[in-house]
Amino acid sequence: MYDQVSELRHIASQIKPERKMRVIAVTSGKGGVGKTTFTVNLALALAEYGQRVIVLDGDMSLANVDIMFGMSAKYTIEHLLSGEKTIEQILLPGPQGVSIVPGGAGVQGLAELERDKLSHVIVNMGRLEDMADLLLIDTGAGLGYTVINLLKAADDVIIMITPEPTSLTDAYGLLKTLLQKTDEVTIYVVVNRVKNEDDAHLVFGRLETAARKFLDCTLKLMGWIYDDPLVGRSIIKQEPLGVSFPESPSYRCIQWVAGTVMGIESNPPRLARGILGFLNRLLPN
Ligand SMILES: Nc1ncnc2c1ncn2[C@@H]1O[C@H](COP(=O)(O)OP(=O)(O)O)[C@@H](O)[C@H]1O
Ligand SMILES: [Mg+2]
Repeated sequence: MYDQVSELRHIASQIKPERKMRVIAVTSGKGGVGKTTFTVNLALALAEYGQRVIVLDGDMSLANVDIMFGMSAKYTIEHLLSGEKTIEQILLPGPQGVSIVPGGAGVQGLAELERDKLSHVIVNMGRLEDMADLLLIDTGAGLGYTVINLLKAADDVIIMITPEPTSLTDAYGLLKTLLQKTDEVTIYVVVNRVKNEDDAHLVFGRLETAARKFLDCTLKLMGWIYDDPLVGRSIIKQEPLGVSFPESPSYRCIQWVAGTVMGIESNPPRLARGILGFLNRLLPN
C-alpha cells in the first residue's frame, strides 16, 4: 500500500509544474438555477482576462456544457477512465481558447476513483495543469455523493441561488451536507436572476444568516446576475452570452464576477432605471 501511494506521489510530482491550477466548482441545491449558463460564460469572461480555462462538465444527468458552447461531445471522461482515450483526445476546443472536458457518466467514476485507474487518471488529468490556469467544474445539483466529492476536492466552491424560496432551502441543505464532510473549501455565493441590487443582497442575506446561525459558516457574496431575457435567446442560438450578447446586463455581471475571481475589485454593473427612476431620485426624501 505504502509503495503504491509513494509511486503515485512520484508520478504526480513529475508532472506538476511550479504554478498550480485553481479548481473552482459551481454548484446549487436545486437544478435549473443557471449553473451551466454561468459556468460557460464565466469561462469566457476569465479568458478575456487572459486566463487559460478548462470547463469540466460534471453534471451526469444534464450534461450540456458542450451544447451551450454549440458543440457536441464525442468522448467523455468515461473513455479516459476506461483507458481508451487520452485527455487530449476527449478535450473539445471552444471559443476564446476555452476547452471543455465532457464528463458524462464518467464523472461518477472520477468521484469514486478506483486505485487501479488512479495512475492513468493522474497522469492524464495532470497534463491539464500545463494547459490551463483554471479548471471550472459545472457540477450537478443536489446532495449526491458525486457532487459532494467534487466539491470537497475543489479549491473554491460557488453556490448559485435564485430568489426562489426552494433554491434557498435546497442550498442550505447542500451547505449542511458539505460542511459535515469538509471545512477546507472556501464557499462563495452568486445570486442569479435578480431584479436589482437590493434583491441580490436580500436573498443572499437570508442564506447567510441561516448559515451563520445554524451552521457556524461564513459565506461570501461573490456577485449577482440580473434576470435577463437575452439568456434564453443565447441558449436557443447555442452560443454563449459572451459571444452573442457581450453587452447584455447578464454578461456584464458575469464579467464583473470574473474580475472578483481574479481578485480585481470593481463596482457592480447597474441597471438603467428609466425615466421614472430618474424623476424619483430627483424628489426630496
Ligand atoms: N440570468 C438569467 N436570466 C434569465 N434566465 C436565466 C438566467 N440564468 C439562467 N436562466 C434560465 O434558466 C434556465 C436554466 O439554466 P441552466 O444554466 O441550464 O441551469 P442549471 O445548469 O443550473 O440547470 C435556462 O432556461 C436559462 O435560460
Ligand atoms: Mg446545468
